Amino acid sequence: MRVIITGGSRGIGYAIARQLSRAGHQLLLVGRSGEALAQAKSSLAEHTLVYPADQTIHEAPDKLILYMKEQQFHPDVLILNAAAFFDDTRSVTKPDAHELERILQANVISNYNWVQKLLPLIREGEYPRIFVIGSTAALRADTSLYGISKAALRNYTLGLREELKPAGVGVTLIHPGGTFTEKRVPDERTDPDRLLEASDIGILVAAMLTLSPQAVVEELTVRPMLGDTF
Ligand SMILES: NC(=O)c1ccc[n+]([C@@H]2O[C@H](COP(=O)([O-])OP(=O)(O)OC[C@H]3O[C@@H](n4cnc5c(N)ncnc54)[C@H](OP(=O)(O)O)[C@@H]3O)[C@@H](O)[C@H]2O)c1
Repeated sequence: MRVIITGGSRGIGYAIARQLSRAGHQLLLVGRSGEALAQAKSSLAEHTLVYPADQTIHEAPDKLILYMKEQQFHPDVLILNAAAFFDDTRSVTKPDAHELERILQANVISNYNWVQKLLPLIREGEYPRIFVIGSTAALRADTSLYGISKAALRNYTLGLREELKPAGVGVTLIHPGGTFTEKRVPDERTDPDRLLEASDIGILVAAMLTLSPQAVVEELTVRPMLGDTF
């Protein structure tokens, strides 16, 4: 299958890319840093495409569509993985409203725009699927603006799943718990065994792409054995 992965250059997105590349899928990775994309590409199958873009820029998906036409890349699967984390206050009272607007733009509105633009192409795919990477922060009383954005993303994704059922487009929402990436490393508060491996999510996505066309995993929560760390 042909798969677009936003944030495919590092962390969970890259771990998904590794598993899908090994399984023989053709990939198009999106991220802001051309250098990080080139590094990711160097370790993946030769036909992997990369496209540097900031997903929050309104024109980004239109430009990506032009690039895909040039490359004759007809996507079947869209994996919306890239996200912003922003402030470290872990508070819903300290940051100002403008911070909330920024994180909603990055984690909700831009994903919405990407689906609006790319859905017509995905619908025509051989195995039309949209995967959204959420977070367990959406499932608990999380005191962060990030948690607000992931909860909004969850409701949007559940609605998308419902609305796209008759069109045969499968929508899957994955909530990882804390995962070992450049963004999240073990520290004095968090032992390594309290974080998932990024490959755990990659392995699950690769497995879900082997399901029959009439099967869809709707929502999947994956936590470290001892639960969330915060
Ligand atoms: N790590 C965790 O503990 C954890 C837990 C639960 C859920 N998640 C979710 O998992 C997903 C991936 O997180 P991660 O930990 O793997 O993050 P990461 O290591 O920081 O990787 C983020 C990826 O997204 C790209 N990216 C970030 N902002 C972008 C933008 N505006 N436009 C285009 N690409 C952008 C980054 O590349 P550039 O910087 O070059 O753009 C990078 O490839 C996110 O949705 C996150 O919320 C993570």
